[in-house]
Amino acid sequence: MRHDLLERGIKVDLIYLDPPFFTGKIQKSNWQPGAMEVSFEDSKKFWGTKGIIGAPTWLKELGVKRPAFASYLNYIGKRLELCKRVLKDSGSIYLHCDNRAAHYLKMIMDNIFGYKNLINEIIWQRSLGHHLAAKMDVMTDSLFFYTKNKDFVYNQQYQKLSDKELDKKFSQIEEETGRKFTHRQLEQPQNIGSRGETRIIQGKKIKTEQGWRWSQKRIDEKLAENPYIVYWTSTGRPRYKLYADEYKGRKLGSLWTDIPHLSSGSKERRGFPTQKPEALLERVIKISSNPGDLVLDPFCGCGTAIVAANKLNRNWIGIDINPDACEVMTKRFEDYFQITPELHLRNVEEIKKLNPSQFEIWVNEFYQARKPSPDRGVDGITPEGWPIQTKTFKVKYDVVSSFLNNIKYHPSVPQPAKYAIIASKEGFAESAMARVFQIKENEGITIKLVTPEDLLE
Ligand SMILES: C[S@@+](CC[C@H](N)C(=O)[O-])C[C@H]1O[C@@H](n2cnc3c(N)ncnc32)[C@H](O)[C@@H]1O
Repeated sequence: MRHDLLERGIKVDLIYLDPPFFTGKIQKSNWQPGAMEVSFEDSKKFWGTKGIIGAPTWLKELGVKRPAFASYLNYIGKRLELCKRVLKDSGSIYLHCDNRAAHYLKMIMDNIFGYKNLINEIIWQRSLGHHLAAKMDVMTDSLFFYTKNKDFVYNQQYQKLSDKELDKKFSQIEEETGRKFTHRQLEQPQNIGSRGETRIIQGKKIKTEQGWRWSQKRIDEKLAENPYIVYWTSTGRPRYKLYADEYKGRKLGSLWTDIPHLSSGSKERRGFPTQKPEALLERVIKISSNPGDLVLDPFCGCGTAIVAANKLNRNWIGIDINPDACEVMTKRFEDYFQITPELHLRNVEEIKKLNPSQFEIWVNEFYQARKPSPDRGVDGITPEGWPIQTKTFKVKYDVVSSFLNNIKYHPSVPQPAKYAIIASKEGFAESAMARVFQIKENEGITIKLVTPEDLLE
């Protein structure tokens, strides 16, 4: 996220994160449900040496009793800070949590995004309960919806009612047309300004003691559009009709009970243990973005959020550390849209498998460098004009020396060269480091030696 978005100045409109959950167990296999969870070993890495600096006091205190869990929270917090930096000012972020860490993560979100920017805690009912739990089934997840500012994209959504609910709500039938309807007040006390005024409705002069919801002009326009719009009560008071066939649905609130979890037989299922339903992500994306916007999922798993974004004509970026997840996600895109997503590998094991020309392409893509033609011993040149050499074996003294000669007289390298990069898959011998030191002393040229691990750090 830091390299591909932040350093390149790419900002996104919407972020959805469904991070791995903390279990505290040591995970053994990659493709078990556990792979979606952060292990104790991983969490120690997250706390690391720098983790505790800058962490809120409560988190440091929690770290005394539950160090592994605190380091997990700290790790997610660092990710969220990066998210804030890549989010546009008008952007929104949804953090999807289960009940194990939700309350702590909300405090972290408050800390990073500001409690005033909490728009809602969405409760998603993900199961009807299995009735197998010893005490109480966990049937819900929380999605914390924050924005960066008060001015944000928000597209109102509506929840469809069931036929039974619709029949109950729109219980009357218009004789003239057969349309189902219900009725609402035309007179109401909050319209105090028109209290005592008279309206002429279908030829009748009606004075109100309360106040009118509609002006005379609006009443006339409504009646011109639909002569049956007014409903008269048995006491002769006018109301207006709402029709079932024009009803968009119930305004969406924070309780989402209408999106079921994926059943084992669902067509959407890709065999990915923590896969979320597309309908859930489609709703999030529709609320908080517009077509053409950029959606980011920094823990994209088998790609539900980015599949939903693609369906809704949004641009998208998905990140996942697990090559198996990327494989499932790629297959999903091929099946749904007949496109193979562009993969930017940021996984050391995968990068170690690249052949020399693939490694060269990967390093150049990382630095946004271009290969010069003719190359004359220089594999890439960064936008700043720094030459790059890539090697898939352990680099020794002689490689550094000949690279120096290549860059000093290269027609495409701005002279005098001041800075250069050698990237090696297998690292550097001490003789290479000694040569780099000599070159700096004698020629004033800094040669940076990097491995894939350094670049991915
Ligand atoms: C809960 S799953 C996401 C599921 C996803 N929402 C879906 O519908 O498929 C969490 C994902 O985070 C990934 N992950 C774990 N640590 C990560 C990291 N440091 N960077 C990126 N992804 C990571 C895991 O590989 C896993 O696929």
